[in-house]
Amino acid sequence: MAYTGKLDKSVTIRTLQSMKELGEKFVTVALYDAPMAAMAERCGVQAVLVGDSLGMTVLGYDSTIPVTMEQMIYHVEAVARGNKKSLILGDLPFMTYAAPEQAMNNATRIMQAGANMVKLEGGRWLEETIRMLSERGIPVCAHLGLTPQSVNKFGGFRVQGRGQQQADTIAEDAKILSNAGADLLVLECVPAQLAAKITQIIDIPTIGIGAGRDTDAQVLVINDILGLTEIPPKFSKNFLVEAGDIPSALQQFVADVRKGEFPEDQHIFQ
Ligand code: KIV
Repeated sequence: MAYTGKLDKSVTIRTLQSMKELGEKFVTVALYDAPMAAMAERCGVQAVLVGDSLGMTVLGYDSTIPVTMEQMIYHVEAVARGNKKSLILGDLPFMTYAAPEQAMNNATRIMQAGANMVKLEGGRWLEETIRMLSERGIPVCAHLGLTPQSVNKFGGFRVQGRGQQQADTIAEDAKILSNAGADLLVLECVPAQLAAKITQIIDIPTIGIGAGRDTDAQVLVINDILGLTEIPPKFSKNFLVEAGDIPSALQQFVADVRKGEFPEDQHIFQ
């Protein structure tokens, strides 16, 4: 299949904000190397995330907790070399943003490696950190719901926000962090109704993964799109099976998200 939907110019946070305002869905892929980053650009992926999921997908750890700043920088540099048009998000790894000053120093390193935005996992305790980064010119993507760096606190990779009290806390956190200056919000493994509500009550774009169809964007990990994960999560889909080759699989993911056809009912938590 020929490539379609190429990005005609570089994507910025303003592009994604105006897509939310127009009700146009955008696509994010978590990926880790230059050739895949280049392919994402050719397939019209608006944002690429150099996720600390690389600890599990590339480096063979059981969680994201062992991932270091040096590993993140290495992969952000590779992705930035391969892709000049998508917005590049880089994760700050476990315990590298536990205090605001530390977050600023480490976010600086991720930005200097080639990211356009940093991503942090956690709720209202990050309010001061996000305000500090945002006021100093570092865009921030917040991340709520199943935040994998807290896997030990959650007692496993589990859906979050199923009870009313937990759902209210996540929705309040989303408000607090967007008011503090966050530019994007990832919602991972939360009931679809909660993600839909949060997408309505905050002005910044939401990116869902296992969060239903009503977020402003979707993200999947490239390994899941390409069927490389031994036990794939319920919310993911192997696009390679039907598409037949890697570019077509990525292109199908882009097309299905843009049309609101992914996720399907079997990928959603109610
Ligand atoms: O690390 C990662 O790839 C992520 C996505 C799954 C959202 O945080």
